[in-house]
Amino acid sequence: MTVVVKLGGSVVTEKDEPETLDGAAIERAARAVAAADEEVVVVHGGGSFGHHYATRHGVSRTDGTTDPTAVREIHGAMQRLNDAIVEALADAGVPAVPVHPLSAGVRDAGGGLELPTGQVETMLEEGFVPVLHGDVLAHAGAGATIVSGDELVVALATGLDADSVGLCSAVPGVLDAEDAVIDRIDAFEDVAAVLGGSDAADVTGGMAAKVRTLLDLGTPASIFALDDLDAFFDGERPGTLVAGGDPDES
Ligand code: IPE
Repeated sequence: MTVVVKLGGSVVTEKDEPETLDGAAIERAARAVAAADEEVVVVHGGGSFGHHYATRHGVSRTDGTTDPTAVREIHGAMQRLNDAIVEALADAGVPAVPVHPLSAGVRDAGGGLELPTGQVETMLEEGFVPVLHGDVLAHAGAGATIVSGDELVVALATGLDADSVGLCSAVPGVLDAEDAVIDRIDAFEDVAAVLGGSDAADVTGGMAAKVRTLLDLGTPASIFALDDLDAFFDGERPGTLVAGGDPDES
């Protein structure tokens, strides 16, 4: 059983303080990964590390830069965050190893992400826990742009034919108009009203874009908060289940 788990940037960092870790949250997540029985691939977001430098240099998933200093600064910050997370995982007994998307993937001229997953697959087979992160990537015709952790999760789940996806976020799931967690989403239309319509032009990684992407994925995905990470690894479906392509898969 292979699971891909993203630790959101707002879970592992103090989002409003530049380059500030949430050490307690990282340690808690590390303990949960250590207790998991599955083959786990960890992806983490940028939080107050990557986003800070990306904003400063005006780089997004679509707006690129050809300034090598910008690429080094954004990547460098993400590498520092990755080092801290890999170290916390290692301290909890997880055989974690870093994988840096800048050196592994690329965006084509249409913005499509190409991420070979052979190295991650072999790492899993050899007993390692690969730890990837949102990053900056070479982008044909645009210099370099940001790749989000969510995009990496989708590419990994597809490439590895993962059984399950978990997005550990700052909220306990997708919330309805009364702020109650929606248990299950099978189609975007069911939640379009509460997620602010079906406008696909959401490049900021809001919940609408997340749900859309997960619905297309074909692997069942759960969105939940850190409190529920243990339950997720226990095979439960905490938070919101985005059922995606195959409704029998849950
Ligand atoms: C952003 O990754 C990575 C960079 C800004 C370099 P994500 O978009 O996945 O990060 P979070 O989870 O929203 O913080």
